[in-house]
Amino acid sequence: MRSLKDKVVLITGGAGGIGMGMARAFGALGSHVVLADLHQGRLSARAQELTRTGVRAETTVLDVTSADAWEACVATTEEKVGPIDVLCNNAGIGTSGKVADFDISVWRRIIEVNLFGTFYGCRFVLPRMLARDEEAHIVNTASLAGMVPKGGSPYVASKHGVVGFSGDLREELRDTKVGLSVLCPAMVRTEFVANSAQVLGGGKGGNEAMAAALQSGIDPDKVGELVARSVLEGRYYVMTHPEWRPILEEHFTEILGSFGTGADPEHVENFAVLETALRRDA
Ligand SMILES: NC(=O)c1ccc[n+]([C@@H]2O[C@H](COP(=O)([O-])OP(=O)(O)OC[C@H]3O[C@@H](n4cnc5c(N)ncnc54)[C@H](O)[C@@H]3O)[C@@H](O)[C@H]2O)c1
Repeated sequence: MRSLKDKVVLITGGAGGIGMGMARAFGALGSHVVLADLHQGRLSARAQELTRTGVRAETTVLDVTSADAWEACVATTEEKVGPIDVLCNNAGIGTSGKVADFDISVWRRIIEVNLFGTFYGCRFVLPRMLARDEEAHIVNTASLAGMVPKGGSPYVASKHGVVGFSGDLREELRDTKVGLSVLCPAMVRTEFVANSAQVLGGGKGGNEAMAAALQSGIDPDKVGELVARSVLEGRYYVMTHPEWRPILEEHFTEILGSFGTGADPEHVENFAVLETALRRDA
């Protein structure tokens, strides 16, 4: 996008650390931000904080796991504030635990918030963006846990899902005016562990060591500033922590080194036929 001035930016998980970092950064560039989160109390406090610094800020209570709530939220926001120019699918939760004894409802809830929440956001905002045929942008908050398996199985599965989902959506949006970014941070200084624990119910949000570890992380405002710059530059992968590069290299080197001669050394894949089939499905 060429400018963020006067653009309407809807941010889920907007009452939290990275969401607020984004709100401050977009607000500083003249955007009208709409914070969406679970509880009005926290939302109002955050909106007041933004308003005091001269940022136009609205709030909307939204549980990103509800398709009905999304439909209503998008309609109301567009009616009250205007068409959504930038959507940040940022709400997220996580916890650690072993697969052998993981609480099944907790595992499901994490997938629902992180993956379905992101899909629903795109599902309900995208048709309006495409119909307007004006510059627009979507930012999906994944994680470096969406690239390498570190962070607890449901979290890793959901964030790999967000990265994969975004990659497929990127192809779908290639010839449209809707840009897309996928944000992959490592540790960011937020209350993610405590907030997740609250959503998941008493003590299931992770451990104190992880909460403390996040406090050694990057300032969420810096993440927000990079996100806003990336939207302006049309950058797809938004990587906040270059010090993770060697870990990703090791991970992908192992994958690339695993092909060997494959299952049938005589077989030659017909990519042309596959591409045609994929286009036909679309
Ligand atoms: N903090 C980190 O180190 C880190 C690293 C990588 C990725 N992330 C991702 O960044 C995003 C923001 O996390 P954060 O670190 O700012 O934590 P945070 O807890 O401050 O923000 C997450 C927000 O999402 C909200 N939320 C949870 N469930 C929701 C639902 N069903 N509907 C609407 N809102 C809901 C929470 O209330 C909270 O305000 C998350 O997707 C997280 O997975 C965080």
